Amino acid sequence: MSENEKGANAMSANAPKAGNEGVYHLQLKPGDVPGYVILPGAPERTALIARHWEDVCQVASCREFRTVSGAYKGTRLAATSTGIGGPSSEICIHELNVLGVHTCIRVGTTGSITPRFDLGDLIIPVACVRRDGTSVSYVGPEFPAFADTRVVMALIQACENLGFRYGLGLACTVGSFYAGQGRPLGEGGYWPSFAENIIPDLQQARVTNIEMETAAQYVVGYLHGMRMGAVLSVIANRPLDRWGDQGGEEKACLTACEAMKILEKQDMARGWNDI
Ligand code: URA
Repeated sequence: MSENEKGANAMSANAPKAGNEGVYHLQLKPGDVPGYVILPGAPERTALIARHWEDVCQVASCREFRTVSGAYKGTRLAATSTGIGGPSSEICIHELNVLGVHTCIRVGTTGSITPRFDLGDLIIPVACVRRDGTSVSYVGPEFPAFADTRVVMALIQACENLGFRYGLGLACTVGSFYAGQGRPLGEGGYWPSFAENIIPDLQQARVTNIEMETAAQYVVGYLHGMRMGAVLSVIANRPLDRWGDQGGEEKACLTACEAMKILEKQDMARGWNDI
C-alpha cells in the first residue's frame, strides 16, 4: 500500500473512532445516551443503578467502560462506568461530551477521615483537593475542582426526599489507593516520612474524605461546559480503621437517579428540553 493510500484509509489520530463509528473508548454513537448520565466507577454498578429503571438496555461494553440506558420514573438516563482513577475518567467525560451529554453525577465510594461521616453515610463533595494527577494536564494547580451548584442542590433534595443520612464534603482526590492515601504498605514496605502525615494534614485542613475520581471529573467536565456532581458512600472509616458498605452503595445509586429526575424537571420548567 502506498503512503497516499495509507493516508486515505487511516483515521484521525486526534479523534479516533471505534469499529462501530462510535467514540473510540466508550463505543457509543450520537443518540445512544441522553444528556443525563450517571457515572459509577465499576462496570457492575451500572446494573445496580439500572435496577431502578424501566426499558433497560446495555448499549456498549469495552474495557472498564460499560453503558446502560433506560428510564427512571419517566426520565431518560444512562449510566457509564469510568473505571478507577483520573485517566479513565478523563476519557469517559470527554467522549460523553462529544455525544452531547451535559449533566453527570458520579456515584462512588470513599474513605471518611472525619467523625462526621461513618460507614454507609453519603457525602456530596462540593469541591476537591486536586491530587488526582490528571486534571493538571488541563489546568494549573491553582484552578479549583468544584461541583455545579444546581446538581449539588438536586442531590441534597434527593437525600432529603429519600430520608438518607448525608452531608456536604470537601474531598481529596488522589491518584493512589495505598501510599497516596496514607495506607501502610505492610511490614518493612516503602513508607516515606510524609506518608505518616497525609491524613493528619488533610484533617487539619478540614477535608472530609479521600477518593480517586471526583476532582478529575469536576475539572474536565467544567472545562467542557458540563454540569458535574457526585454522591459518595462511605466504605472506609480511616480514623477507626473500619471497612464496610452498610447499604451505602445502594443508597448512593438511588440518590443519583432521584437527583437526575429533579434536574430534568427543573430544566424542562426553564425551557431547557434536554438542553
Ligand atoms: N475509595 C478510595 O479511594 N479510598 C477509600 O478509602 C475508599 C474508597
